[in-house]
Amino acid sequence: MSKKKTTATVYSQTQISEGIFDLWLETDLAEDAKAGQFVSLFCKEGSRLLPRPISICEADKKAGRIRLVYRVAGQGTAEFSNLVKGDSVSVLGVLGNGFPLEEADGKKVIVMGGGIGIPPMLQTCVSLKERGESEGVTAVLGYRSERFLWQDFSDVLLQDDKESAASEGAGSQSENGACSLYAATEDGSFGTPGNVLDAVSQQSIQGDVIFACGPMPMLRAIKKFAEANNIKAFISLEERMACGVGACLGCVCKTTKEDDHSKVYNSRICTDGPVYPAEDVAI
Ligand SMILES: Cc1cc2nc3c(=O)[nH]c(=O)nc-3n(C[C@H](O)[C@H](O)[C@H](O)COP(=O)(O)OP(=O)(O)OC[C@H]3O[C@@H](n4cnc5c(N)ncnc54)[C@H](O)[C@@H]3O)c2cc1C
Ligand code: FES
Repeated sequence: MSKKKTTATVYSQTQISEGIFDLWLETDLAEDAKAGQFVSLFCKEGSRLLPRPISICEADKKAGRIRLVYRVAGQGTAEFSNLVKGDSVSVLGVLGNGFPLEEADGKKVIVMGGGIGIPPMLQTCVSLKERGESEGVTAVLGYRSERFLWQDFSDVLLQDDKESAASEGAGSQSENGACSLYAATEDGSFGTPGNVLDAVSQQSIQGDVIFACGPMPMLRAIKKFAEANNIKAFISLEERMACGVGACLGCVCKTTKEDDHSKVYNSRICTDGPVYPAEDVAI
């Protein structure tokens, strides 16, 4: 399905932690949504013309719903936080390329999410689990502090395992052994003290492929780590965007390879990304 602007209906909205909202929208965009893709939400307030990009956290194709988990960052997201069941919202989607899940076939995968880069990693883990082609998925989530912990991630990911959902700090595993979950916190209040890479080294987590989303310093560190350890990494760059459809160059990132078509070392994250092989981007 090509991207389109459509009207979605709010199915539910709850606040799940400090400044973080969990929004389910009823929309036929769910049908084609893939892990790592995003939608752009329009504000009702006329002065905020540009839509706000938010990653697809989960897509329930059967029910025709997508889940967006977002942090209130400014006026646009503050407006969305007031949406209630039954409200309508204009959405452009689905956008972006998504994670190349087939790259994980027959391999051990480490899925890393930091801060507000965690939401898209939930659908990534769920889709990897559904494909059943990888040798196992380890999710490593980085938070600032225990008070931002997102319990629901472990509930969804480890739904087969009734005992482990509460213990992601030490690492927990689903019954079929397909998924494990670890957490790190910057202030050391839960899980491994430090960041996602501290958790990887301290918990001796092994992987052949990395899928990651998070703040730029985290992605830079993952790129370096992957290069040093000869691991293939795919990173999602959630940079600032304007038009969201490739028309304004408001989202370009520097690349390490020349673009075949335009002959420049630039790429538009909104249309060519947001997911790139780490070695292809100069971050
Ligand atoms: C592909 C993509 C996926 C995204 N997915 C999510 C998501 O799943 N959940 C989520 O909470 N946010 C996500 N974001 C970030 C989200 O789009 C911004 O937080 C939002 O647009 C801010 O809009 P606003 O009107 O509330 O704030 P603005 O008034 O536009 O900005 C408020 C503050 O936030 C900063 N800001 C704006 N955009 C970004 C950004 N992309 N990254 C870092 N800082 C920013 C501004 O510099 C400013 O300081 C994503 C961004 C992209 C590009
Ligand atoms: S946001 Fe306009 S080109 Fe990407």
